[in-house]
Amino acid sequence: KTVAVIGCQFRGGQGKMGVEQGPVHLVNAGLLGQIKELGWNVRWDGYQSYEHLEEKITVETDPNIGRMRRPRLVSNVCEEVSKTVEQHAKEGQFVLTLGGDHSLGMATIGGTLEVYPELCVVWVDAHADINTPETTDLGWLHGMPVSFLLGISNVPEYSWTKGKLHPSRIAYIGLRDIEAGEKATLKKLGIKTFSMHHVDKYGIGGVVKMALDAINPTRERPIHLSFDIDSLDPQFAPSTGTPVWGGLTFREGRYICEAVCETGKLIAMDLVEVNPCLTDPASAKRTVAAGCALVRAALGEELL
Ligand code: ARG
Ligand code: MN
Ligand code: MN
Ligand code: MN
Repeated sequence: KTVAVIGCQFRGGQGKMGVEQGPVHLVNAGLLGQIKELGWNVRWDGYQSYEHLEEKITVETDPNIGRMRRPRLVSNVCEEVSKTVEQHAKEGQFVLTLGGDHSLGMATIGGTLEVYPELCVVWVDAHADINTPETTDLGWLHGMPVSFLLGISNVPEYSWTKGKLHPSRIAYIGLRDIEAGEKATLKKLGIKTFSMHHVDKYGIGGVVKMALDAINPTRERPIHLSFDIDSLDPQFAPSTGTPVWGGLTFREGRYICEAVCETGKLIAMDLVEVNPCLTDPASAKRTVAAGCALVRAALGEELL
């Protein structure tokens, strides 16, 4: 068993400096060695810096499209990441993508969907990231990747996103900061959503079971886990661009990874929105350590 690890140093889907440093901090914390110790062959794909695209697609040549900010840069980077992910998945490798911001979700899931058309997605996040160019308030693409995966955002510059994900094949866990337009979209498409209210009500064990029962009833479908570190409560993961109080405990977040791993169907994971530059070093360290532990759980680390 081989895991390909892609370090995506990309921040163009949101407005804060530093999220591109997430991969370096995760790797410097020893993540690759920790994965090896779990018995995986690690194929480190290196830090992908996208400087060639950032030099070509500048603020001047990349004006807003409607409300979308840096639309061409995000599209070009994500199209490239998507191909990289697809290639690794095609070779039968587990694909671990370290972000970078969550606009990368359209790339990673777009890539795995090409290889696993039956794929389902567990999206763990404080946010639904399902805004469209019409509903977005701030215009940042990290709030929109799911809309491109579902094919409900139609922008010519994003024609490479094929919109093949069926709304019945994605479930959210950890939601607590959803905009009105997003709420309407989630409702209209009948998407399975488990907010923090449901985590409190049913417990994390119940929520993960209900989520998997909905999107993967016989557990035959491959699973892609897209984990936004801001799903965790800021007390456990303070170093992230859009923190929201009232989130998952570290244990609840880790349980999701353990339970999804236990299905034996997990084929890819994203860990995104770790921004080590936004807080004091101790808080950054805590956030990075939490991220490493989540990845280890998804890759099979058992407590006992
Ligand atoms: N809903 C907000 C927006 O669309 C926040 C999105 C935060 N997304 C994230 N990946 N952290 O701008
Ligand atoms: Mn680099
Ligand atoms: Mn989020
Ligand atoms: Mn997100």
